[in-house]
Amino acid sequence: MRKAIQAVRGMNDLLPDVVERWQYIESVTRDVLSAYGYREIRLPVLEKSELFARSIGSETDIVEKEMYSFEDRSGDNLTLRPEGTAGVVRAGIENGFLHNQIQRLWYAGPMFRHERPQKGRYRQFHQIGVETFGVDSPDIDAELILICARLWRNLGLNGLTLQLNSLGTDESRKVYRGELVNYLKQLKSRLDDDSLRRLEKNPLRILDSKNPAMQKIISGAPSILDYLDEPSLRHFEMFGDYLKQAGISYAINHAMVRGLDYYTRTVFEWTTDRLGAQSTVCAGGRYDRLVEHLGGKPTPASGFALGMERLADLLALHSDGVRTKHPHAYMILLGEAAQKHGLMLSERLRDAELHIECHCGGGGLKAQLKRADRRGARFALLLGDEEIRNRSVSVKDLRDGGAQSSVSQEKLVEYLHEKLGRRSKT
Ligand code: HAM
Repeated sequence: MRKAIQAVRGMNDLLPDVVERWQYIESVTRDVLSAYGYREIRLPVLEKSELFARSIGSETDIVEKEMYSFEDRSGDNLTLRPEGTAGVVRAGIENGFLHNQIQRLWYAGPMFRHERPQKGRYRQFHQIGVETFGVDSPDIDAELILICARLWRNLGLNGLTLQLNSLGTDESRKVYRGELVNYLKQLKSRLDDDSLRRLEKNPLRILDSKNPAMQKIISGAPSILDYLDEPSLRHFEMFGDYLKQAGISYAINHAMVRGLDYYTRTVFEWTTDRLGAQSTVCAGGRYDRLVEHLGGKPTPASGFALGMERLADLLALHSDGVRTKHPHAYMILLGEAAQKHGLMLSERLRDAELHIECHCGGGGLKAQLKRADRRGARFALLLGDEEIRNRSVSVKDLRDGGAQSSVSQEKLVEYLHEKLGRRSKT
């Protein structure tokens, strides 16, 4: 036998049980976002590589080591998007929907990063991202947090913790960076290899190190919040006031720097202690310079993205979080005449908004009943030669100890609706 081909490492198949959980998250998210006036945008998965180098930053891990980049047949250097923000900004500039406008947008889809796969960290993963443009005041940042909080509530999730920081402006960060490098250089002999490598190129990322041996050094580092310019400080304080007013608790983490270089001022992460090492479920912040940096007119912006895999894992731990979709009834077909008739009878029931799974492929009563049970159907509808002759169906209530009644085909819709406690539409 030939060896079976397997999926690419770090890229997962999403099987039906998992997809149901995802659809639930997607539908709750869609409802929440539209309640806040956010509109969906759909963008290509491939972009020119330069877009990510210029936005995420050429010295970040993502751009240095994790991008799926290649030259296509026309010789263009392209990259499978590692995140969604850069593409939204590119599309906004290209389609002229950013300048002098307030935009509230969201997107969902796969992202690609060549990271070391582990639980909660994959090479193809999925985000729902939310981006706002045109508002520079912290009320919009607070709105983003309120959206997240409502989402967790509506999904039935608890125990998520919000961490905040402010990265100030490019100018204030430059001053801070100098101070941080001075501090770290004094401790150079104690830095790990990763930190030594980052010391000159991207020293703020050292603060994000997970190496236990680095934690003491990190906690003793100067705080970026002590170097904020006055307007950024005021912005951050107002943001905190909005959250307090809304009853949302948070912790300030001055070592939170994020892995993408486009952020300015407020950044935030929602984390959980229930998922192990990959604990950040949702993250984002303000990126007031990015539109300009990518060739647009100066436009303030702010947003976040949530990780679908992590959120779905978290939801799975809350057993009452997802309602699996079961058919209302499973149509059991016994004999040739029933097989012929059953497809059309199922159609009529579906016209009346009943969810019917119709047995295909033949087989005996026992096997079909077993399948009805496995699919979690409330009723089994039995159709055999006798039922066809009488223009009836034998309805077996699978939750009521299998009680069986003969119902005329004409009255079937009404009967099922009544049993399901729904008002019949016919
Ligand atoms: P990010 O922090 O790189 O930000 O990713 C956001 C979320 O995506 C993470 O918190 C995590 O839940 C999920 N995620 C990231 N990488 C992986 C992975 N390899 N496997 C599984 N899940 C992952 C961004 O991408 C920004 N674009 C967010 C943003 C939008 N900022 C402003 N607007």
